[in-house]
Amino acid sequence: MPHREEELRPTHICPVAPGAPPSDPTEEPKPSQAAQFTHGTLTRSQLDANPFVQFHRWFSEPSLAQTVPETVTLSTASLPSGRVSSRMVYLKELDSRGFVIYSNFGTSRKSRDLASNKFASLCFWWKTMERQVRVEGVAERLSAEESQVYFDTRARGSRIGAWASQQTSVLEPARKAEGSQTSEGEGEAEDDGRAELETRVREIEARFQGQEHIPVPPFWGGLRIIPETIEFWQGRESRLHDRFVYTRINGDVGQGGEAKWKIERLSP
Ligand SMILES: Cc1cc2nc3c(=O)[nH]c(=O)nc-3n(C[C@H](O)[C@H](O)[C@H](O)COP(=O)(O)O)c2cc1C
Repeated sequence: MPHREEELRPTHICPVAPGAPPSDPTEEPKPSQAAQFTHGTLTRSQLDANPFVQFHRWFSEPSLAQTVPETVTLSTASLPSGRVSSRMVYLKELDSRGFVIYSNFGTSRKSRDLASNKFASLCFWWKTMERQVRVEGVAERLSAEESQVYFDTRARGSRIGAWASQQTSVLEPARKAEGSQTSEGEGEAEDDGRAELETRVREIEARFQGQEHIPVPPFWGGLRIIPETIEFWQGRESRLHDRFVYTRINGDVGQGGEAKWKIERLSP
């Protein structure tokens, strides 16, 4: 008979040596030694004076072509609670002012957070190059006209989906009609809330039937993160990583115009 604690031990968690941190993803985990970052180095002389140019250089690195380098974690926080939330999104554009993603701004958690707090951050991790980029700044909505340009490039199903999904709102299971109970193994599987979404999709499809042009929903569109800081991180051996942070020094975040940037090396 196993000890009670052994019975309760989860079996789906990878074992690590007692007290050892989880392994780095860059090497096979070793029980007593963490993996090393050895891919490259980053020095000040390699950096472009403009962080957008520098980002583009890293983003265009050929070895990232096999991956999805535009996948990025977006974090927001609501006020006054200060609760932070993070989620993956796709970076869709990088212009001279900032990093653009597209999403729902009606019902999603990010939209609720941003309504009370305009600050947001992005964090990219590019494993093949052992590189991380962190962006912190102010978020601003793109206009409907700007958002429409991207919306038009989406597959029809995704455009319908944007209209149909009240992102992050709860989908309630359909109530069973009285007397409609089926015996086990018979009939349709019980609805878990998916039916409400699919009904909504059918309604939206009917609404735009025969119509090639679909307007961007008023609650959907682009969000530009206008950076105040951008940090470039290159993994190095012995955790002595190279880190450089660009800080905007002309102070007019969100005002456009040519920004000036200070570059500093950070301790790993
Ligand atoms: C790889 C990946 C990419 C995603 N891209 C987007 C995106 O570009 N826009 C978006 O709204 N949600 C995207 N999602 C879904 C979000 O992670 C999230 O579920 C959704 O935006 C609702 O989050 P919120 O309620 O916290 O705002 C993506 C998810 C994954 C896993």
